[in-house]
Amino acid sequence: MAVIENAKVAVVGAGAVGASTAYALLIRNSARQVALYDINTARVEAEVLDLAHGAMFTGSSNITGGSDLSAVEGAHVVVITAGAAQRPGQTRLELIGTNARIFETMLPQLLSVAPDAVYVIVSNPCDVLTTLAVEQTGLPPQRLFASGTVLDTSRLRWRLSQRAGVAPSSVHAHIIGEHGDTEFPLWSSATIGPVPLLDWKAEGHPPLRQEELDGIAHDVRHAAYTVIQGKGATNYAIGLSAARIVEAVLQDEHAVLPVSTVLDDFHGLDGVALSVPSIVSSSGARPISETPFDESELSLLHTSAEALQDIAAQVRG
Ligand code: 2OP
Repeated sequence: MAVIENAKVAVVGAGAVGASTAYALLIRNSARQVALYDINTARVEAEVLDLAHGAMFTGSSNITGGSDLSAVEGAHVVVITAGAAQRPGQTRLELIGTNARIFETMLPQLLSVAPDAVYVIVSNPCDVLTTLAVEQTGLPPQRLFASGTVLDTSRLRWRLSQRAGVAPSSVHAHIIGEHGDTEFPLWSSATIGPVPLLDWKAEGHPPLRQEELDGIAHDVRHAAYTVIQGKGATNYAIGLSAARIVEAVLQDEHAVLPVSTVLDDFHGLDGVALSVPSIVSSSGARPISETPFDESELSLLHTSAEALQDIAAQVRG
């Protein structure tokens, strides 16, 4: 699928994350057609109306949607945000029971109306749901992946940009692994521009030290809990993250993003979805096997994988 002129993105789920994703897609002009689908008729119709009322300001993008599955018909990309969301203090992995059941019914329905779409799972726990969804649907892992740690990577780059006094786009650092409590930064390859993090001289600031970097990584890992505690959910940044991923697919960008795909012979990992730097294009997501890891990072990646494999095994029963 090359660059599509009149591309359609369907967002499944009109809750805070789904509505924010649709909003982000519209204001970024990510796609010509944005459709919002939810089984809750009143909710989805109100969200579509509220979004459509901004049409004067959203360029050539057009919003449609409703509670009939036809809203998803012919979508080139389907972003799935449906399901239960974390309550304060709840982990993402604790959502697996409820959301795996929802996915079991929902995925065949979506595939019946959008069989050729690229699927991006945002619902949590996104990595385990992706592993199970690939097994259930038989779709190639390239075409069914999760937003993973794209959001966490943005959180990390924001904190480092503030500390280093540079634009977030000039911070080249990734959070990888589970989108969750076992995620971790790839410090060994992190740079600001061409400069390794610990060599960076931030004007008017002391040099970065490893303890400080580890503190920033801790805050990133706990960011969602902090926001959920204060406002009940996270939605804006995940909406923007999903829109960024959609753009890389629709524009056939071949952009490097840490999305979560089911890995195949990746540094000793097989059959488990987790985030590593990947090439995202119109055919979907492909992990970059040349990604360098130091010994501790490889061990953390395996620890993350084991946590996710355990949960997936429990669901399979
Ligand atoms: C987040 O990290 C809750 O997974 C969502 O904001």
